[in-house]
Amino acid sequence: MIALGLEGTAHTIGVGIVDDDANILANEAKMYKPEKGGIHPREAANHHAENVAPLIGRALETAGIKAEEVDLVTFSQGPGLGPCLRTVATAARALSLSIGVPIVGVNHCIAHLEIGVAKTPAKDPVLLYASGGNTQVIAFANGRYRIFGETLDIGVGNMLDKLGREIGLGYYAGPRIETIAKEGKRLLELPYSVKGMDMAFSGILTAALNLRADGASVEDICHSVQETCFAMLTEVTERAMAHVEKDEVLLGGGVVQNKRLQQMVARMAEERGASMFVPEGKLCIDNGAMIAWTGLVMHRSGIRMGIEETHVRQRFRTDDVDVTWRS
Ligand code: FE2
Repeated sequence: MIALGLEGTAHTIGVGIVDDDANILANEAKMYKPEKGGIHPREAANHHAENVAPLIGRALETAGIKAEEVDLVTFSQGPGLGPCLRTVATAARALSLSIGVPIVGVNHCIAHLEIGVAKTPAKDPVLLYASGGNTQVIAFANGRYRIFGETLDIGVGNMLDKLGREIGLGYYAGPRIETIAKEGKRLLELPYSVKGMDMAFSGILTAALNLRADGASVEDICHSVQETCFAMLTEVTERAMAHVEKDEVLLGGGVVQNKRLQQMVARMAEERGASMFVPEGKLCIDNGAMIAWTGLVMHRSGIRMGIEETHVRQRFRTDDVDVTWRS
């Protein structure tokens, strides 16, 4: 079986094509970059609308197949930005109807976990999913992927992006913050916001900007924000691992490409006698292959969706999905 997956929850429109054995035949993507400010959902949706058809064409070409050879169309059903989700869902429905194959809507957060399980040695991991829009610690327990900890306000990546913009590092500033943080000398005091198993990041942003206004260096701020946020993520992940008694941690989302975060989680894992797994870069960030693969696995387990069930779900919760494909 060959599945084609469309990803479009936020800034990236992605088209992936996979086969039964999780071989990735194509994984094309294009990212919307705002000229200034943050993501404007409607503009991002227009970007996706313009690019989705050419990207599907390119993915088919890369995979060396014709549209008629696709057996299943899958798409990111949520969570995400409404206009982006609707655009991509519409494209998925049109494609599924035009080639006459089934359609499956996929939970985007679960897709990060499933592709990691398919493409790394991890079997039953705790996922630390840290991106712009999402920050969750997820693991399989009692028939569902449960959220063991999550952000109470904004995603950690969103916070880093906002910080980057405010201190003049441009948009999608994560990699620049990582580089600059290496020059930081002082650990400035920032609110360590872990509440139970959940986290909050907007207060850290406010505190960091106040410190900047008071004359703290950009280097010290980048260093301190990273150390504080990544310690929070590592702590919550460790507690989830202890709670569910799992000895694998999987990383997913754009932020986990940060080497300092990887280092902190790897050390925590090592101290627990656990293993850490990081999928390759293109599979960590938002991509169509993870949607294609998760949809394929869902379809294989018997999940079928009528077109009327393919409405988008902006606040689609990870634990809303009945995971029929795992025992
Ligand atoms: Fe994501």
